[in-house]
Amino acid sequence: MGLRGSFPSSSSSWVAIILVLNVVVMCNGGKTSTFVRKVEKTVDMPLDSDVFQIPPGYNAPQQVHITQGDHFGKAVIVSWVTVDEPGSSTVIYWSENSKEKKHAEGKIHTYKFYNYTSGFIHHATIINLKFNTKYQYVVGIGHTPRQFWFITPPEVGPDVPYTFGLIGDLGQSFDSNKTLTHYELNPQKGKTVLFVGDLSYADNYPNHDNVRWDTWGRFVERSVAYQPWIWTAGNHELDFAPEIGETKPFKPYTHRYHVPYKASKSTAPFWYSIKRASAYIIVLSSYSAYGKYTPQYTWLEEELPKVNRAETPWLIVLTHSPWYNSYNYHYMEGETMRVMFEAWFVKYKVDVVFAGHVHAYERSERVSNIAYNVVNGICTPVRDQSAPVYITIGDGGNLEGLATKMTEPQPEYSAYREASFGHATFDIKNRTHAYYSWHRNHDGYAVEADSMWFFNRYWSPVDDSTNSQS
Ligand SMILES: *[C@@H]1O[C@H](CO)[C@@H](O)[C@H](O)[C@H]1NC(C)=O
Ligand SMILES: *[C@@H]1O[C@H](CO)[C@@H](O)[C@H](O)[C@H]1NC(C)=O
Ligand SMILES: *[C@@H]1O[C@H](CO)[C@@H](O)[C@H](O)[C@H]1NC(C)=O
Ligand SMILES: [Fe+2]
Repeated sequence: MGLRGSFPSSSSSWVAIILVLNVVVMCNGGKTSTFVRKVEKTVDMPLDSDVFQIPPGYNAPQQVHITQGDHFGKAVIVSWVTVDEPGSSTVIYWSENSKEKKHAEGKIHTYKFYNYTSGFIHHATIINLKFNTKYQYVVGIGHTPRQFWFITPPEVGPDVPYTFGLIGDLGQSFDSNKTLTHYELNPQKGKTVLFVGDLSYADNYPNHDNVRWDTWGRFVERSVAYQPWIWTAGNHELDFAPEIGETKPFKPYTHRYHVPYKASKSTAPFWYSIKRASAYIIVLSSYSAYGKYTPQYTWLEEELPKVNRAETPWLIVLTHSPWYNSYNYHYMEGETMRVMFEAWFVKYKVDVVFAGHVHAYERSERVSNIAYNVVNGICTPVRDQSAPVYITIGDGGNLEGLATKMTEPQPEYSAYREASFGHATFDIKNRTHAYYSWHRNHDGYAVEADSMWFFNRYWSPVDDSTNSQS
C-alpha cells in the first residue's frame, strides 16, 4: 500500500493523517495470535506405548483403515495387515437394518524396504453400499476376527450437510496423540478426515525404519477404522533413499494406503477426486510433476470443468505444500505449483485449499496473484473474491516440532496465524454456508481458536473477508 493524498496543510488534515497511519497498522496483515505455547520438545511415543499395542490373538488384523472406494461414496476400501501368515482377505459386512451378511474379497501385497519386510497388507473394496447407512464389518476371518463399523455418506446433493475433519502432518508423538484425541472429542463430530499429507514420519528413523509405518497404522486405527480418511501424499511419503538402494518413490505409502484414483480417471494414486455429500474434493500431489503436459496437469485441466456446482456446491482442494505461507519454513516451496494452477482455481472458484507441510496454523484472506507475466511487475497478491481461502493445517504434532518463526511484518494476505498444534473442522450446512473452525490442543475440546463462516463461491459469492481491506 502507498500513502495516498498530499501532506496536510490544515488542522483537520491531521485527522486524515491519523486515519492513514491507522490504515498502515491494519495493512500490516491480519492477526498473529498472541497465544504462545510452552516450549517443549516434541517426542515420539515409545514403541511400548498403549497406542501401538498389537491386538491379541493369532494373526489378528492390525492397522485397520478405511477410505472412500469410488467417486461418489457407495464404496469403501478396507485395509489391514496380518503378520503371522497371509490369512483370509475376506471382509464380511452387513448393514444394521438388514443383517444379511455379505462378503468382499481383497488382495494381499507385501513389500521390502532395505532390510525390512512388511506384513501381509490386505486391501478389499466393498461396493454397492447404501447411502447414509451404518455397516458393521469383520476382518481376520478364520483366525482372530475383529469387528468395526462405518457410516456411508448421504447421497451426493447440493444441500446435504456434512462435517469434515482436517488433520495434517500427524506423526506419532505425544502431541500427535493429543491432536487425534481432540479431533475425536470435538463436539462438532467430523465424519470424514481430509488428511493433507505426512503420515508416519518413519523416514526420520535410521534406514526409514518401516516399523514406524506399522506403529502409525496401529495408532490411528481407533479413528480410521471407523471413518474414512482421505489421503494426500506429503514429502514424508516419498521414502526416496538411494543411499540404501531404495529408489522407487512412495513405495511404503502406495503399498499401505490405497485411494480410488481410477474412479476419477486419474492414472496415479497421488492426484484424484471424490464427491462426498455436497463436496467435490480434489487431491493434488506436490511431489509429482505438474508442469504443462504432465499427467497431473492434464488430469486437472480436464477435471475442473467436470465439477458441477449444482450437484456439489463445495469445491475443496487438498495438497501438501502450501501456496500462501508466511512462516520461515518451507517458504516459497509451493510457488511452482501456484504458478501452474492458481489461475484455474480462480476461474473455477475453488472455495478452500487445505495444505500441510508447515508445522503450524495459518488462514489466508481470499487472494490471488495471477496478474504477473514476467515483464509487468504485478506480483503482489491482491484481494480476490473469486479466489479460495488458503489454510495451512500442518499442525498435527509430529516429532519435528512446531514452526515458530514467521516472516514479519505479517503479509496482507495472511488473516490469522499461530504456531500451535491442532486440527480443524469444515462443517457444511447447505449450498451457501459452511462453518469452519480451528482447535488448538491446549484448549478444551469445544474451544475454537479461529473460525470463519464460508460463503460458497458459486451460490453466494459475497465478501467473506475477516480482516478489513486496505
Ligand atoms: C536393519 O539394519 C540395521 C542396521 O543397518 C539394524 O540395526 C537393524 O536391526 C536391521 N533390521 C532388520 C530387521 O534386520
Ligand atoms: C493417547 O491418547 C489416548 C486417548 O486420550 C490415551 O488413552 C492414551 O493413554 C494416550 N497414549 C499416550 C502414549 O499418550
Ligand atoms: C443455510 O445455512 C445457514 C447457516 O446455518 C442458514 O442461516 C441459512 O438460512 C441456510 N439457508 C437455507 C436456504 O436454508
Ligand atoms: Fe511435509
